[in-house]
Parts: sequence; structure tokens; C-alpha cells
Amino acid sequence: MPVTEKREEMSLKIKLAKTAGFCFGVDRAMNMMDKLVSQKEKVATLGPIIHNPQVIENLKNNGVSIIENPEEATDGQSIVIRTHGVTKDVFERCKKVADKIYNATCPYVQKIHKIVSNNSDEDSVVLIAGDENHPEVVGIRSYCNGTSYVLKNSSELEILLKNNPDISQKRVIMVAQTTFNTKEWQKNLKILHFLCTNAIIFDTICSATEERQKEAIELSKECQLMVIIGGRTSSNTAKLKAVCEENCQTVLIETADELNQYDLNGYDTVGVTAGASTPACLI
Ligand code: F3S
Repeated sequence: MPVTEKREEMSLKIKLAKTAGFCFGVDRAMNMMDKLVSQKEKVATLGPIIHNPQVIENLKNNGVSIIENPEEATDGQSIVIRTHGVTKDVFERCKKVADKIYNATCPYVQKIHKIVSNNSDEDSVVLIAGDENHPEVVGIRSYCNGTSYVLKNSSELEILLKNNPDISQKRVIMVAQTTFNTKEWQKNLKILHFLCTNAIIFDTICSATEERQKEAIELSKECQLMVIIGGRTSSNTAKLKAVCEENCQTVLIETADELNQYDLNGYDTVGVTAGASTPACLI
């Protein structure tokens, strides 16, 4: 970032977003981890518990290991399932090999598992708005009884329904990945309105991500610089940076130390927000 002119006796105003940091689901998962660590329980998380390298490093230093498959759990180790949830099959495998299972699947995701499981059968069709490779969607799909399709946008939904008119003759239910784009979701609903009028729609989008993004956009309009705190591999952090960049200069940092490379002289107002996996201590 280019260093801007310096002004003397400048008082810098910092505006911190109210929605910065952990969402409800991540907070719940991290409280679970803190408790297990303080109890000195032998635990492994199935994949990194959150997308934040500092938090992961800290957990590793406290004896928490990360495994990719349930079978990698060692004797006496418990398994923690992360907020995205897992497939039915993986859950069963965990039960076989782990001493105990701690289910940190976000309750909003668990609710989607219940919706698709209770409302689908061999003759029905479940439509899932989302990214088919995302672990949350892979997990949701495993709870569908019968045929399911994953549509990443409204064009895909339109093509599917036009090419397969028999779908609309069946019992159809539609759900969304919790982080699905709300504008795209509205477009999906319009398409269903014309091509599949009997579809039962469950709006399962979680508002936490959208609210954080909305607040970041508003803040970036009032500030000259936005500082986004979060892991570089976190997709919601990257999205925050992208939406703020449209309005003002924006930098992404993982830790406070990284701020030292920027000269903040010359700025009147700096906005700060953070991704869903960024703990309060880093903010
Ligand atoms: Fe859950 Fe929403 Fe966070 S689905 S993990 S509260 S973003």
C-alpha cells in the first residue's frame, strides 16, 4: 500500500464494526474447544476447527491435533466435528473409532440436516443452492433421502428445471447453504415461481455473514482506510476485503504486527472489521 502524506498532530479515529469477529456458530465451537483444552482432554479436530492460523497454532501447542479422516484418531482421543458438519457416513465412522464425539456443527447447519432428512424420500427431489464441493453442502446432501441437486446459481437452476420437466411433477424441496448469496437466492425463488410452483422452500441462509458484509460496506463508505483482520485462507474474510475495496483503500492483516508496515499518518478515519473466524483477542 503506498504511504500517503504525513500530517502533524493528527488524531486518528478508529471505527470498529459491531459484527466483527466470531459468529454464533464459531463462538460455540471455540468455547467447546477451550473447555476441552482446559480439561486436558485428548482431542483431534476433523479438519481445522476454524480458518485462522493463529488460533490453530495455539490449539496445536495445547495438544490438539488435526486429522483428515476419523480413522487417524489415536487411542483414547476424542473427535471434534467442526461447524460445517460432516456427512452421515463420516459421523458413523467417528462413532466407531473415537472415544467420544464433540459435535460443534453449527445448530443452523444441523437444522438443514433435519429439514432435508424429514422432508425427503425416494420419490422427492431436494434442490440445494450452494457450492457442491463445500464441506457443508457435502454434509447436507448426505442427509437427503433420494435425489438431490446442487445449484451454484439461478442459471443452473433454470437449466436444470427446463431440461428435466419431470422434476416439477415430484415433491420438491429447496434449501440453501448457510452462506449462500441472498440476491442469488431471490433469483432462485423467482425461477421456482415460474417453473416449479409446488416447491417447498426453506430459507436456510444464515444472516450473520450478510450482516457483517453490510456493516463493512457502510463503514468503508465512511472511512479512508479499512483494515480487515482475518486468515488469508478464509473465504468470508476475502469477501469482506473485496466489498470494502470498492469504496476505499483496504488492507488485510492476520495479526496486529502486520499493521506496522503501514503508515497511518494522513488518515482521519480507519474502519476495522474481522472475519467470522477471527478471535476478539486478535481484533
Ligand atoms: Fe453458523 Fe452462521 Fe456462523 S451458519 S457457523 S452462525 S455463519
